[in-house]
Order: sequence, then C-alpha cells, then structure tokens
Amino acid sequence: MKIAILGHGTVGSGVLKIIQDSALHPFEKDLSVKYVFVRPEKVDQNELFVDDYSTILNDEEVDVVVEVLGGLEPAKTMIIDALKHGKNVVTANKAVVARNLKEFDEIAEENGVKFYFESAVGGGIPWIINLERALRIDQIDSIHGILNGTSNYILDTMTKTGQSFDKVLKDAQDLGYAEADPSADIDGYDIENKLCISVDIAYNTFVKPGDHLLKFGIRNITDEDIKYFKKHNLIVKLLGRSFKKNNSFNFVVEPTLYTPGQIEAGIHDNYNFVGLRGTTIGKLTFNGQGAGEFPTAHALVQDILDLKANNVHLKRDFNEEFSLDNTTKKKNYV
Ligand code: HSE
Repeated sequence: MKIAILGHGTVGSGVLKIIQDSALHPFEKDLSVKYVFVRPEKVDQNELFVDDYSTILNDEEVDVVVEVLGGLEPAKTMIIDALKHGKNVVTANKAVVARNLKEFDEIAEENGVKFYFESAVGGGIPWIINLERALRIDQIDSIHGILNGTSNYILDTMTKTGQSFDKVLKDAQDLGYAEADPSADIDGYDIENKLCISVDIAYNTFVKPGDHLLKFGIRNITDEDIKYFKKHNLIVKLLGRSFKKNNSFNFVVEPTLYTPGQIEAGIHDNYNFVGLRGTTIGKLTFNGQGAGEFPTAHALVQDILDLKANNVHLKRDFNEEFSLDNTTKKKNYV
C-alpha cells in the first residue's frame, strides 16, 4: 500500500517513523510512504515532502491518505478531496470527525473507499474497534471516559504535588501534551469531540459538538479545591459521560469526584480511560496512552493495516433518533 501523510507534526512524523523504521514493524515490504504533504518552506528538507496536494490526488498509486493536520480547515476539504479521488482516508483529527462523520461516511461509500479514525478517540487505545465489536451483539446504554490527557495530567499533578493550576498547565505545554490553544483541553471541548464520536457509534445517531451539550472544564479548579478534595479522600477527574434510556440520552463533560479505590482514580499522568456498558458484555473498560507521537501513530497504522486486510468496520447509517435529556443526572453509568 502506498501512503500519503498530510502533515509532519508530532503524529505525522510518528507514522512516518513506524512505517520506515524496520525495527518498529514487521511489514516493511507491504507499506510505504510515497508523499508527506508539508508547508512550502519545508519541501526541501526531505525527498518525500511535497506542498502541492494535486500531486497526491492525481497519483493513482496512492491508496491511503493519512490526515494529521488537525483543525477544521483545510483538513475537511482535503479529506473530501481525497475520498472523491478514490483514496481511503485515515485520520486522528477528532474535531473534524466529530462534525463531519456522516458526510465523510457518505462520500466514502459513494466513491467505494473507507474512512477510519481509530486514533481520534483515546489515541493508542483500541476503542472504536472494540465499541464496534461490542455492537455486533449488544445494545450499549452507557459510555464514559477520561478522554483528555492534558487535563488528566494537570489534575493528577496538582493532586500529587499541590502545585497551582497555572504552573502545571505551563508544564503540560512544555511537555507537548496540550493543544496549541489549551482551551480545547481544559474547557472540555476536546472531550466533547471524542464523546460525540463515541456516542455516534454507540447509539447509531449523529451528534455534533455545540452549545446544546453540557460541558464544564477544569480552568477554575484551584490548589485549594484539590486540598479540600484530598482532605475528604476524593480525587477529581475531568470526565465525559453519556447514558441512554429509551429514546433519550444525556451528554455531560464535567469534573467528577472518585474515591481512591475506583478505577478512574488510578488513571495517572496523561493517560486516558474509556468504558462502555453493553447488554451481554456488561462493563468493559480500557486505559492507555491517549496522546503522543507513537501511541497515536500506532492507532493510525492499525487503521492502515485494517484497510489492507479489508477488515470492514461496522457500517453506520445514523438512523436512530434520540432527544437530549441532561436533566437526568444518572449515576449508574459504567
Ligand atoms: N490534547 C489532547 C490530549 C491530544 O491532551 O488528550 C490527544 O487528543
């Protein structure tokens, strides 16, 4: 399979390394990167680098476009162009998937190609594939997750060290965990994107991020708050959760308190956690690295290998209709 990577930031360079470094993978003869789309000023740095997208679109050898530009545009237009040119697309871009999954699915189907996004939710955690596997048998009525590594790092470090929010946020930025605009991480928007994608699949409905969904972030949590929680033997996590009942579901992103023995309380540093509850599988939870060069690139390469194996993900039609009901603050999620 010949691959074009759109973007050479942290995750794009991770994908390139995994595919090119024979020490990291067993498939060197089967996958190869033919192009990396970069800004014009970087073109001279590597013979694979191009800044003209039509070179990629018009090259019939390119089977897969890996979109890791992030953000809404030009990512959305470039994904649609790739699908319309008969290229499969895999992406880690949760913001663009959360808003456009239905359209991307339709365009992919019209053009006989696939659109996969395992890495967009929970980074390296194999979440989408396992959500789909559960759905082959079960109804899912609850999902919840600590789906932002930066906010988990901040709360965890404040809890461990007693340092202030601002100091720990700065450290998270220096470590490269936070988004360029950390508001997405600390105000709940990043978890909102990831929970929307999870809800889309779990309930077979299409929910777009927006003001109608309840979200609270961690920007106002102080070291005094953390001290108070500790005094009462509680640990705070920024959680996204959704619970479905009959024809309605709730959707909330909010700081949530746990006691030390609970599984969520043990998710440290910038790790992620996500879980579901299904009819026969019961509670099923996962944790792992939700961000970073290699974990995210690993999930993207898994998507490429699924394409290669013609491993068809669940077909979605988004035909279920639910109303949003955030008045039921049910605690009986996973
Ligand atoms: N900024 C995100 C996080 C990156 O901290 O989880 C992965 O989506």
